[in-house]
Amino acid sequence: MTLVSLPWAILVSTCLGTSMAQTVTQSQTEMSVQEAETTTLDCTYDTKDSNYYLFWYKQTPSGQMILIIRQGAYKQENATENRFSVNFQKAAKSLSLKISDSQLGDAAVYFCALMENTVRQATGRG
Ligand SMILES: *[C@@H]1O[C@H](CO)[C@@H](O)[C@H](O)[C@H]1NC(C)=O
Repeated sequence: MTLVSLPWAILVSTCLGTSMAQTVTQSQTEMSVQEAETTTLDCTYDTKDSNYYLFWYKQTPSGQMILIIRQGAYKQENATENRFSVNFQKAAKSLSLKISDSQLGDAAVYFCALMENTVRQATGRG
């Protein structure tokens, strides 16, 4: 088996803007994963809203932002998109991203983002 190191760069995020009550936090900074392995990226958030959407975006080395997966706060099941799935824990305000069967092309910066339905603002930076 070929061992390939996939560097992830995920920086701690803080709230963008001035008067927003929401925060999105990604505690992991960089992860190395072997090809074909499964990995999990953590994200916690805080909001006073009860209705919101959560997103995981991937920024490719060329700078392109790609939406990977979206989770609605009222969805009764975890969103799944091909090799990507989330573990959404609404009470704990956590949305981890699971990447199965890791591939070289997964090496990227991953952003967790929150959009409150009422104010329609997005935040999150990783
Ligand atoms: C997502 O999956 C986890 C683990 O199976 C489960 O604990 C959690 O309740 C699920 N979340 C939703 C919104 O179904």
